[in-house]
Amino acid sequence: MAIICVGASKGGVGKSTLVVNLAAMGALQQKSVLIVDTDPQGSAICFRSLRGGDDIKATACTEPILHKKMGAYRDQFDLIIIDAGGRDDSVLRSAMAASDLFLLPVLPGQFDLWGATDTIKAFTEVRAFCPALQGRLLVNQIDPVTRVTHNSMKALRQLEKEMKLLQFGIGRRVAFKSSVEKGKGVVETEPGSKAAIEIRYLYNESLKIIAGAKK
Ligand SMILES: Nc1ncnc2c1ncn2[C@@H]1O[C@H](COP(=O)(O)OP(=O)(O)OP(=O)(O)O)[C@@H](O)[C@H]1O
Ligand SMILES: [Mg+2]
Repeated sequence: MAIICVGASKGGVGKSTLVVNLAAMGALQQKSVLIVDTDPQGSAICFRSLRGGDDIKATACTEPILHKKMGAYRDQFDLIIIDAGGRDDSVLRSAMAASDLFLLPVLPGQFDLWGATDTIKAFTEVRAFCPALQGRLLVNQIDPVTRVTHNSMKALRQLEKEMKLLQFGIGRRVAFKSSVEKGKGVVETEPGSKAAIEIRYLYNESLKIIAGAKK
């Protein structure tokens, strides 16, 4: 059983894209998967209706009560992925407290990286009460040509003092947009693509971090 929260107080960093792709990867591995969306009309619910079928369940939880509700979900699912936005900081904190691993996507630009400091502060505070909670920074939408600039790399190293950085990020790739429109993950629509390789790495690494912390 693993609970991963993909969250950030900043919008548009790729939370929902990563959530649905991790969920699709879990479904492909025959796991029973639940997506919890902190937005009532959120992307996860739309993804679920586009997908049809029954292999990924989705529910909304817009109140800061996820850490209390999680006990009931824990017994029913192998993998729970939370899509946690930032309009209400208390919902994000509750989602962190409910999770085994918190993934914080950041965009590679320097200004975007600075936007992550509030979320890191919230993570540090939640972790004081939930010492088993793991956290990782994840660079999303890396330009496949220019990669991450020198200045952004310097800013990332600063952030890394507070939260470890995953070694491989996620590229900016069309496959992520086209698969979501079909209610699928890239591992299903384009299993041989670079996007799929990146999601497989992210999924396996996330489960490894959680397993390591539970030892
Ligand atoms: N790796 C990627 N490659 C290409 N496009 C991406 C990638 N990640 C995200 N996007 C695109 O960026 C936009 C924002 O992504 P997404 O909706 O997942 O972010 P979000 O953090 O969930 O946003 P919000 O805060 O509005 O909920 C979307 O159009 C999505 O298709
Ligand atoms: Mg979203």
